[in-house]
Amino acid sequence: MAPPSYVAPIVDSTAIFKPDIFKGKVLFCTGGGSGICRGMTEAVMRHGASAAIVGRKIDRLTQTAKELAEATGSKCIPVQADVREPKALHAAVKQTIDTFGRIDFVICGAAGNFLAPIASLSENAFKTVIGIDTLGTFNTVKATLEHVRRSKGSYIHVSATLHYRGLPYQAHVSAAKAAVDALSAVIAVEEGPHGVRSNVIAPGPVGGTEGVDRLIPKSEDSQRRIQNTFPAGRLGDIKDVANATVFIFSDAASYITGQILPVDGGNKHLLNTS
Ligand code: HXC
Repeated sequence: MAPPSYVAPIVDSTAIFKPDIFKGKVLFCTGGGSGICRGMTEAVMRHGASAAIVGRKIDRLTQTAKELAEATGSKCIPVQADVREPKALHAAVKQTIDTFGRIDFVICGAAGNFLAPIASLSENAFKTVIGIDTLGTFNTVKATLEHVRRSKGSYIHVSATLHYRGLPYQAHVSAAKAAVDALSAVIAVEEGPHGVRSNVIAPGPVGGTEGVDRLIPKSEDSQRRIQNTFPAGRLGDIKDVANATVFIFSDAASYITGQILPVDGGNKHLLNTS
């Protein structure tokens, strides 16, 4: 078979969408201090929204908030909270409302992950990931819902595609993300009549993230395999997820709720790859 000649381009949302579509809006993002959620936050800020980024490590959040504000010209505050602690999340929401007066968009993105076979996965290890990913999402929704109803706003839950099959060493994450998918559907149905939308973005393997950089070798062989087997000819990029975020939060997606949008270059339809 001839080597593929097409590699999907990586673009900025600002090249596609108007720069002011989120002017006056406010984003509350858990896990926004780094990785994919940082990129999602940056994109929303580039279109005019202010943001609160929420996480456990205040030093990292403070640095990220400064960098995002400088890069985008929008406001960003760092807020320390562990999504496993409802009280801390309520305080984070209060700080956001005291600063910006409203919450329109919520990204439930805080997540934990490590590789471990189920035979040696402790009950506490399983519970920890369910606690961050699943309960953390529930807690974030509970803490923000009143404000999101008021603004007729929108939730994006960051899930994954790994639980569509049985991916070894990921029992805890697979169970946690499947629950997040289910939770989002219920929120969409219950909250739709209040004007609230809830969707899932499910990234496939995204380059430049902690987990994928650790798992996928940088060798030429591995890069060739990605180009030959991934339908889009490359790994995902944080910008791919960020662009989907801008679309889902925008009014162009006002009739889209309760959906799961894989941003994976078509990989979920392949056999024997992840
Ligand atoms: C087996 C492990 C482990 C490992 C921790 N545990 N790491 N078990 N293998 N590598 C176990 C511990 O032994 C303990 O169980 C329990 O998990 C809790 O560990 P703590 O370190 O006390 O928990 P905590 O400090 O809350 O840390 C949470 C964490 C950590 C998930 C374990 O890794 C973390 O905070 N990660 C955040 C960053 C991160 O993972 N980001 C990636 C997200 S990407 P015992 O029984 O000993 O008490 C993502 C996308 C998914 O999620 C898609 C990927 C392709």
